[in-house]
Amino acid sequence: MIIAIDGPAASGKGTLARRLAAYFGYHYLDTGLLYRAVARDCLELGHDLNDTRAVTTLACSLDPVRLDDAGLRAPGIGEAASIVAKIPEVRAALLEYQRSFANRLPGAILDGRDIGTVVCPDADAKIFVTASVEERAKRRFREYEAAGESPDMEKMLELIRARDARDAGRGAAPMRRAEDADLLDTTEMDIETAFDAAVGLIKRKI
Ligand code: C5P
Repeated sequence: MIIAIDGPAASGKGTLARRLAAYFGYHYLDTGLLYRAVARDCLELGHDLNDTRAVTTLACSLDPVRLDDAGLRAPGIGEAASIVAKIPEVRAALLEYQRSFANRLPGAILDGRDIGTVVCPDADAKIFVTASVEERAKRRFREYEAAGESPDMEKMLELIRARDARDAGRGAAPMRRAEDADLLDTTEMDIETAFDAAVGLIKRKI
């Protein structure tokens, strides 16, 4: 059983996917962490995020065991991740791990940008989670605050818009809703409501 959850930054897809995995008893992979780890390694080694050869080498030698690092979710790493994620060779290097994870028994839930379109086009259920740019900026604002930073709302809006444009506008595996994915707009939903809606959508499919 494979469940694909895609959507833009700060749409709530990660929280949702983790809870769904616990509910259904499936393995869970936040695929954004793979791109974040490559970006983190790249920054640590002082490489340019656009240096295809250097970044691809890092992606090929990535050890997914190191993914639990809380530092990967730090504000700022997501922007760097979306730069390395534009490189087709980097995406190719991370594909096999994601596909083998998806086949774990009794099932797996993967969240990202291209799970329903590229990584697992034959997933049993697909949900594209979204929310308005303003709502997502508010969520990101609260995350930065919780991380001890003093965010600026205009800056958050700008970051979200730039990330959306980069993720949806790239040539390799752009973020988009798969034709057979259900749309879940969480703008007006709290996590409980979104979770109930997602469970309902999945149960209709599996
Ligand atoms: O989901 P998260 O914000 O952690 O992802 C960080 C970045 O990694 C995204 O903005 C996107 O560019 C990239 N990504 C991707 N494909 C995925 C997951 C993440 O391109 N499946």
